[in-house]
Amino acid sequence: MIDTKTMAAPEGQQPSELADEHAPVLRVQHLVKHFHRAGGAEVRAIDGVTLDIVPGEILVLLGPSGCGKTTLLRSVAGLESPDSGRIEIQGRPVYASAQGTTVPPERRRLSMIFQSYALWPHMSVFDNVAYPVKHAVRPRVGRRELTTRVQSVMDMVGIGELGRQFPSQLSGGQQQRVALARAMVAESQLVLFDEPMSNVDAKVREQLRVELLSMQQRLNFSALYVTHDQGEAMGLGDRIAVMRDGRVAQLGSPQDIYERPTSRYVAHFVGSSNELTGTLVHRDPDGSARVRTSLGVMTGTCIDPEVAVGDSVVLLWRPEQTILSDSALPHSINEWEGQVETALFLGPHVEHILCAGDATIRTRGNQRLIACGTRVHFSVRPEHARVLPAADRT
Ligand SMILES: Nc1ncnc2c1ncn2[C@@H]1O[C@H](COP(=O)(O)OP(=O)(O)OP(=O)(O)O)[C@@H](O)[C@H]1O
Ligand SMILES: [Mg+2]
Repeated sequence: MIDTKTMAAPEGQQPSELADEHAPVLRVQHLVKHFHRAGGAEVRAIDGVTLDIVPGEILVLLGPSGCGKTTLLRSVAGLESPDSGRIEIQGRPVYASAQGTTVPPERRRLSMIFQSYALWPHMSVFDNVAYPVKHAVRPRVGRRELTTRVQSVMDMVGIGELGRQFPSQLSGGQQQRVALARAMVAESQLVLFDEPMSNVDAKVREQLRVELLSMQQRLNFSALYVTHDQGEAMGLGDRIAVMRDGRVAQLGSPQDIYERPTSRYVAHFVGSSNELTGTLVHRDPDGSARVRTSLGVMTGTCIDPEVAVGDSVVLLWRPEQTILSDSALPHSINEWEGQVETALFLGPHVEHILCAGDATIRTRGNQRLIACGTRVHFSVRPEHARVLPAADRT
């Protein structure tokens, strides 16, 4: 890491404002932003968020409506003024409450792509893409260089032939490419996306996602990508920050978030789960834990250091982690008997809903459909049954 304090500052620039090329592309620390609703109520839209984005990474902000995703994005872009905290872009502070630093949006060296793409309808594709360069704070670019730069970015994203078209003459996918070309032409390393695909249907969205990923890999920009669609978050994100009430509830790889949720909130927000409530009766230092449930004592895995014997907990596992069999398996733990209540054929897989005592258990797999009323055995491996506190702390 370069020590920016020991580097000579160019004239008029404070050492702390110098960019560090090895720094994370984005660093947000302890960011807080309140709003006051009409009537005086206070909303903590961002409540102490800390996160980093490394070069070439897509970080997805995932969470329900109102959890603060747009406010965080707008704060990074400089369109919202936070109350406190710090934001650095490529090592350069663009907001720092402690020093009173606020860099205006046009000097933050980032691009933003909105839900509607925000293309100018009266401008050609070429002029839309050229806009950020023509209106840049600096440096000024000559006409010939501008044409070359815009054309090369349009070629790169596959719209080289569409320069003279207008946005209304383009498909959703082509409009997305124009928005991306416009973001790329400014040569910013960081692109902010606020639900750019929420206006298109599921099938087109899937195509756009694949295209966006391949363009991101080719152009190697970093992105902060907002969505409330878990499929999109899983498919696009190198890492996902699941947000709740202005806070990051969990930050990790898509696999971490799906397979190792640290709270019921995250588990339920991402995918469906089976849940059995109970009391923790034993835990080993290696994470193995036993929980008394209505079905009996079940063995799971507990990595939360604050969960203690005697606490109310839940055992949580994904439907596809329920193992179904016709007869009892020898030496199997966590195995019970139940009855098929519902059997659903869903194309690529089937789902069974089982009734066992007062518990309802979901299963998902590609086995044959089992008739309703059939008695079956089911089990879950201890490493798949996660033991979490019954009441979320986040
Ligand atoms: N200008 C504002 N004045 C008052 N409250 C606001 C303002 N902007 C946002 N809020 C509130 O801050 C909270 C976070 O809003 P934000 O727009 O960041 O949510 P979001 O996660 O982007 O939601 P969505 O998925 O619906 O876009 C909400 O409770 C919202 O009502
Ligand atoms: Mg929003």
